Amino acid sequence: MNAPLHYQSGFANEFASEAIPGVLPEGQNSPQRVAHGLYAEQLSGTAFTAPRHANRRSWLYRIRPAAMHRPFEPLAHATFHNRFDEAPATPNQLRWSPWPLPEASADFIDGLVTIAGNGGAAEQAGIGIHVYAANRSMEGRFFYDADGELLIVPQQGRLRLATELGVLEVKPLEIAVIPRGVRFRVELPDGAARGYVAENFGALLRLPDAGPIGANSMALPRDFLAPVAAYEDVEGDFELVAKFQGALWRAAIDHSPLDVVAWHGNYAPYKYDLTRYNTVGSISVDHPDPSIFTVLTSPSDTPGTANMDFVIFPPRWLVAEHTFRPPYFHRNVASEFMGLVEGAYDAKAGGFAPGGMSLHNCMSGHGPDAASFEKASAADTGKPDHIANTLAFMFETRKVIRPTRQALDAPQLQVDYYECWQGIRKHFDPSRV
Ligand SMILES: [Fe+2]
Repeated sequence: MNAPLHYQSGFANEFASEAIPGVLPEGQNSPQRVAHGLYAEQLSGTAFTAPRHANRRSWLYRIRPAAMHRPFEPLAHATFHNRFDEAPATPNQLRWSPWPLPEASADFIDGLVTIAGNGGAAEQAGIGIHVYAANRSMEGRFFYDADGELLIVPQQGRLRLATELGVLEVKPLEIAVIPRGVRFRVELPDGAARGYVAENFGALLRLPDAGPIGANSMALPRDFLAPVAAYEDVEGDFELVAKFQGALWRAAIDHSPLDVVAWHGNYAPYKYDLTRYNTVGSISVDHPDPSIFTVLTSPSDTPGTANMDFVIFPPRWLVAEHTFRPPYFHRNVASEFMGLVEGAYDAKAGGFAPGGMSLHNCMSGHGPDAASFEKASAADTGKPDHIANTLAFMFETRKVIRPTRQALDAPQLQVDYYECWQGIRKHFDPSRV
């Protein structure tokens, strides 16, 4: 699949794409015979009867139907799973140093390590939080996740995502979303690659409602890019890996499943350049809540209470006067997992490095460290600050995020993280104004 990179613009549009012109049937989806001897197959990402605005499906016209493979067998994987009950959920603030790149040969699937999560595929709610650290392309094998859609946040190295519906290439400062069930292969054009993955077991990610912010801020639909059709007509001894109900399975397959010659519909992989995010903030005093930085949201059954939000802290100007400008001290009913793609996060003087992560669970107090507090308290807020060359992000969930045993036992866990708040001085003096 060496097709040039082209994209279709829009969020969950009714896309249509043909690698060979004339394949898409006119006026119907499943004609008695499809052009060029192809098979028609529907890929449904929501219930057939989901409301029109939320209904997602695509029709694929492919060389062989997806049913063609040998039986699945369990596939062991030491670090990629959905076991979120192995260790006690902890109210402690947690932070990890960057996850190391692998020493042994590892492709994207080999290199997945589950850090934390909540809920699961069986209840169709919650998320899995994983890091990937890989040093070679997937060769002769393909993957799909039946448990959730995959939000991939590259931190180091480009990813070339060859999917059933076409090719997406993403680099750090961009994201990709692979819908539940879509088969794909990950290639590493730069060699070593590292990043974060949210596996969303709940409702499909979508653009948040913007309310009074209006139609032209935050992430804009035209900046979301879906691939164009590109197919492989290749036979060989390949492996299809499935993630199903928290475990991995493998099946022999004698052809590439990336054999879709044309497709149409609104259920497709997509990418988004986070530098396109139109950031809104205060131009008077104080902070809006960080929900104004929401890129994508997975709604729950409770209005306004997300299964997960994907939130970014992009470069921006801070101009609020008489205001403590870094993120404030707070406690939150939601639970917050953060990562850092590049640069420095403005509430921490050190210890939160690109490729690292932190977890602040439900009602656990957190906020700027002592050094950042002292610096920002003395800053001249008559002048703007430019937060530049940085991108932090957050996976925020309504359910408590439970770290895995391997994440708690990892040497990357910073057991002294709590120390960053111990140097906060008592300033209280009833006689002082
Ligand atoms: Fe927070």
